[in-house]
Amino acid sequence: MERTLSIIKPDGVGHGLIGEVIRRFEKNGIKIIAMKMVHLSLDDARKFYAVHKERPFFNSLTAFMTSGPIVPMILEGENVIEKNRTLMGATNYKDAAEGTIRRNFATDIEKNIVHGSDAPETAAIEIKFFFNELEICERG
Ligand code: CMP
Repeated sequence: MERTLSIIKPDGVGHGLIGEVIRRFEKNGIKIIAMKMVHLSLDDARKFYAVHKERPFFNSLTAFMTSGPIVPMILEGENVIEKNRTLMGATNYKDAAEGTIRRNFATDIEKNIVHGSDAPETAAIEIKFFFNELEICERG
């Protein structure tokens, strides 16, 4: 059993897509074991995306991620990191497969509706960034 961090980004929340994203997870057998809505400070966003701090899009990305509330969730399931990445589609919605969340709803390489951890090590770090043990529900 694996866990990953998913975030519905400010554009996803703003376009009323919280329910749609969650529906796709649940329809595909993915369990949500923690969830909240938060509005990140710029400092928080810079910490969360620290791996990208040398990239040219870092300032724009952190500004976008603080432009409105976001919905971080912990997803659990077999092979859930890969499963979530398949449901999201490629980072650039133009390259994303038909029927994926980003292909269906993203408007820009940056405003791409959702984030998902890319590996078990990053999932563990990203989950800890948003949730403590008490906030995680073992659902059996
Ligand atoms: P995410 O999966 O959250 O990881 C990093 C984010 O940076 C990415 O989704 C996009 O929102 C954003 N981003 C903006 N420009 C680029 C780019 N050229 N390449 C990759 N990610 C980008």
